[in-house]
Amino acid sequence: MKVLVTGAGGMLGRDVVLAAGNAGHDVVGFGHTELDATDASAVSSKFKLERPDVVINCAAWTDVDGAEEAEDAALEVNGAGSGNVAAAAAAVGASVVYISSDYVFDGSKGAPYVETDQTAPLSAYGRTKLAGEDATAAANKRHFIVRSAWLFGIGGSNFVETMLRLAADHGEVLVVRDQVGSPTYTWHLAHGIVRLIEGVEFGIHHMAAAGACSWYEFAREIFEQAKVECKVLSATTDMLGRPAPRPAYSALSSQREHAIELPAWQDGLAAYLAQRSAEREAV
Ligand SMILES: NC(=O)c1ccc[n+]([C@@H]2O[C@H](COP(=O)([O-])OP(=O)(O)OC[C@H]3O[C@@H](n4cnc5c(N)ncnc54)[C@H](OP(=O)(O)O)[C@@H]3O)[C@@H](O)[C@H]2O)c1
Repeated sequence: MKVLVTGAGGMLGRDVVLAAGNAGHDVVGFGHTELDATDASAVSSKFKLERPDVVINCAAWTDVDGAEEAEDAALEVNGAGSGNVAAAAAAVGASVVYISSDYVFDGSKGAPYVETDQTAPLSAYGRTKLAGEDATAAANKRHFIVRSAWLFGIGGSNFVETMLRLAADHGEVLVVRDQVGSPTYTWHLAHGIVRLIEGVEFGIHHMAAAGACSWYEFAREIFEQAKVECKVLSATTDMLGRPAPRPAYSALSSQREHAIELPAWQDGLAAYLAQRSAEREAV
């Protein structure tokens, strides 16, 4: 199949391009500067030229705290931009994958969220991601909406890198213990997405690492696996006072009969750290 990836320069986008190529698909990827999702006519022209069978939309405004102060700008990308991508895909007969987030939920369920659970985003970012789901579904019947969570991947600015940097600089970190989710390795997610596009199970799919932990537990596991000495102090969300509210519990699971299951978050972390070391040695 011919696969077109938008946001191909991002953390997930890069892995999706590689995973789709590894699976034998003919892949073209466009980064932000090559294709701006908010430019409907540029998106339409590019898709007419490339004639993809599937579009995987990894382009997004991902600054969760920044979106609180700039919701309209975030909505332009995550909502309208995603609608442009989905509509242009439909116009050339392509299906579309939209990557959504656990932040479309309010975190009050107290158990893993499944696809049919009620959405109720707490933050501006969550609202714009939900708007993107709606815009995608409205513009293209052949849509896959993939909700994932707490991503970390090679080359991205992510929680694992932040923890390792803080450990090296300070030997001590303060991490929230009252937010629980499913930290997901982008390489595992990318392979899950590539399996998904090979089928026709359109609609919403929850696809995150198996298991769940708090950011505090995640930090402890990072230092244990990386064999780094660092004191991990626990904090509450209120203590840190971040601009965007976040769900207290947003683990994801799937109620689909043929759900694509990803490895456990600890295995994703181990694979990430191994890949990270291999890339550093190669330099
Ligand atoms: N990171 C997470 O924890 C997480 C969790 C759940 C879901 N997701 C979703 O997963 C997807 C991938 O996220 P990620 O973590 O890979 O984020 P990322 O590294 O920030 O990648 C997003 C990419 O989109 C690009 N972009 C921004 N505005 C654009 C526009 N108008 N047109 C085209 N490209 C644009 C960005 O380019 P610039 O950097 O040049 O702006 C960036 O390369 C997103 O839909 C995100 O909402 C992320």
